Amino acid sequence: MDRYAVIGNPIAHSKSPVIHTAFAAQTAQTLTYEALLAPLDGFAATVADFRAAGGRGCNVTVPFKLEAFALAQRRSPRAQAAGAVNTLKFDAEGIYGDNTDGAGLVRDLTHNLDCPLAGRRILLLGAGGAARGVMLPLLSAGPAGLTLANRTVSRAEALVAEFTAAAGDTPLAAGSFADLAGSQFDVVINATAASLADEAPPLPPGLYTPGALAYDMMYGRGDTPFLVAARNDGAARLADGLGMLVEQAAESFLLWRGVRPATGPVLAGLRRQIEGR
Ligand code: ATR
Repeated sequence: MDRYAVIGNPIAHSKSPVIHTAFAAQTAQTLTYEALLAPLDGFAATVADFRAAGGRGCNVTVPFKLEAFALAQRRSPRAQAAGAVNTLKFDAEGIYGDNTDGAGLVRDLTHNLDCPLAGRRILLLGAGGAARGVMLPLLSAGPAGLTLANRTVSRAEALVAEFTAAAGDTPLAAGSFADLAGSQFDVVINATAASLADEAPPLPPGLYTPGALAYDMMYGRGDTPFLVAARNDGAARLADGLGMLVEQAAESFLLWRGVRPATGPVLAGLRRQIEGR
């Protein structure tokens, strides 16, 4: 039986085993998918043991995405741009690293939420690993412009500088939250860790164009503080990151198995579970 896993620390609450097991059943793929806790100083050893035991690939989550990047002998362009790897594939040529987070976000927006990104003005909040991971897929979607805003402005500026070549003709801008006053966006994506502290980024009012979508890469029961603030500021549509979670998993499954699972029923099931319905 082909074995897959998600490796992280902590890992007990990961939804990936449920998601991938559902994908496998739906596509009639014979495989197992388990959650593996790696010691904080033992990521590479955990991967090596899993490979030796017949593992074909794994997802990688906090705090090991940078180590997974370093461990990969070959990497996809989107993993290279993200500087992080969330999917490893083991084959005869060694360890291949990919990053499906950004593609998962774009697919959730464009397919599940019917929110095309081409020609839209996008605001990305944050400049850490989560923001970096989605930059290339967002730019590849052909937006009218991409603005980055971050609490620490220098980090947003550094990220914009790094992606200037990839942006081509797409206008890229960086600034502080306060700098956003007077600007409006069609899609606003929260990639900050503020929700973890039960906070929303301090944004000026009037950010949303009519019909605009606010998207939080975090998810949980009920609206995140960012989504509550977005609704109060007039965002017409709100979405959390549960769809991104399921879509990044589907991209990994596609890489490993060559078949794209239908995400709709899996996402609906997870949503019911989270909301306790
Ligand atoms: P991740 O990999 O989750 O992106 P990270 O690299 O530590 O984690 O980045 C966290 C991001 O959330 C950063 O953009 C951080 O802003 P700073 O660069 O100024 O540190 C942002 N962040 C964290 N807590 C925040 C808060 N309470 N309000 C606004 N931004 C916050």
